[in-house]
Amino acid sequence: MTKIYGHRGAKGRYPENTLLSFQKAIDQGVDGLELDVHLTKDGEVVVIHDETLDRTTNGTGWIRDLTLEEIKQVSAGSSFTHFPDYQGAWDLEKVPTLQEVLELLAPYPTELNIELKTYAVAYEGIEAKVQSVVEKYGNGRKVVYSSFHLPSLLRMKQVNREANIAWLLNEGISLPADYMEMLGLEALHLSKNIVLPKELNTKNLAGLFENIRVWTVNDPDQIGQLLELQVNAIITDFPETAIALRNMWEAMA
Ligand code: G3P
Ligand code: CA
Repeated sequence: MTKIYGHRGAKGRYPENTLLSFQKAIDQGVDGLELDVHLTKDGEVVVIHDETLDRTTNGTGWIRDLTLEEIKQVSAGSSFTHFPDYQGAWDLEKVPTLQEVLELLAPYPTELNIELKTYAVAYEGIEAKVQSVVEKYGNGRKVVYSSFHLPSLLRMKQVNREANIAWLLNEGISLPADYMEMLGLEALHLSKNIVLPKELNTKNLAGLFENIRVWTVNDPDQIGQLLELQVNAIITDFPETAIALRNMWEAMA
């Protein structure tokens, strides 16, 4: 059965990469969550998409130049007043640490896709730090490490030979199975534009769909096409909608 992963929680309706967004996605019934990590000046793993605070918080500055204490001063919810469900309480949301997200997930079997945002800033030692937090607070859940930056994934594998690593791709590659085998990839995390709608792409990926997760898919028709292909997971901003479609599709199958 194709799994539904909430992209940065339930990003379509709630402030991305916040505990609120993750809790809402869990409440909606996601099989997995996707989030992004960076390293603070004092070496803490924080969950935020961008390299800076500017777009998603009321703060400013680079994550790598700020301490966790400084980052905890800003609101990660107050930039989302334009969302239909916005409430004043969202302003209290902070940029969470990876530890805090794992503590939130503790009672749930939710899978976790941790994207190492290492293509713009080289965060020295981030792979080992992330691994250590997951070891302490992961409760044995399935964790998949993804990155556009392949060296980061290979370092993760050096840190933990058992780590599930998945290469994030914006563009297709030839002979993907060869990459998967030689690099020890658990999965490919592919942009929907690689998988849909070209017949050629689909042929290139034949036999691999159970190890392919596709992002970021919000359109019901495209979700339907991916359910037909039986991909491993669909990563979406609107997990509630995708789960309803998936459940309907399963009932008809
Ligand atoms: O993991 C899929 C997707 O999150 C990658 O792109 O920019 O949304 O982090 P982005
Ligand atoms: Ca991401």
